[in-house]
Amino acid sequence: MNQDQKKKIIIFASGAGSNAQKIIQYFKEKNTAKVVLVVCNKRGAGVVEIAKNENIPVLFIEKNKFNETGYLQEIKKYQPDLVVLAGFLWKVPPILIHHFPHQIVNIHPALLPAYGGKGMYGSAVHTAVVAAKEKESGITIHFVDEKYDHGETIFQAKCFLNENESAESLAVKIHQLEHEYFAKTIEKLLTEKT
Ligand code: GAR
Repeated sequence: MNQDQKKKIIIFASGAGSNAQKIIQYFKEKNTAKVVLVVCNKRGAGVVEIAKNENIPVLFIEKNKFNETGYLQEIKKYQPDLVVLAGFLWKVPPILIHHFPHQIVNIHPALLPAYGGKGMYGSAVHTAVVAAKEKESGITIHFVDEKYDHGETIFQAKCFLNENESAESLAVKIHQLEHEYFAKTIEKLLTEKT
């Protein structure tokens, strides 16, 4: 597949960016798609360094403008086939959701609808799962709609908790699942589309 036929992915991320790194790497090897832009709300986030090392442009966003405009003009220029939220903290504004129907996906580090919603992000999710003495947790990849962690589920995978599981050890298991399945699920979505 030549460069022009590749599907285009935009990644939104707020943190370390290990999922972003995996997705970038996967598509460098597979050649079916490429990451054309990283959108980030935090100057010091690890994902910024990752994007720089991969020669991928970074768009820094500011909250008021994001809520009002979704940075739609800036984002549209890249003509994304898919927008991927990989550890992105802010709620996506309606303007973007309406412009990209069924084209925005999120990964959540629990088995939704459990342990989702506002404030349920990263380690807060794992702490709640461990505190509730759950026997299992997992990941959910889903389409994004106007509510937090609410859109249609695309994929889930499970892992089991040990009796002495900590939020930190669970986070490691969850990241392993994310790194195994997120890019593959994205590829499936992109290649099943017309
Ligand atoms: C991931 O575990 C992702 O599921 C979670 O943030 C982490 C980001 O890790 N997302 C949420 O909690 C969204 N509610 P990363 O920066 O290393 O990819």
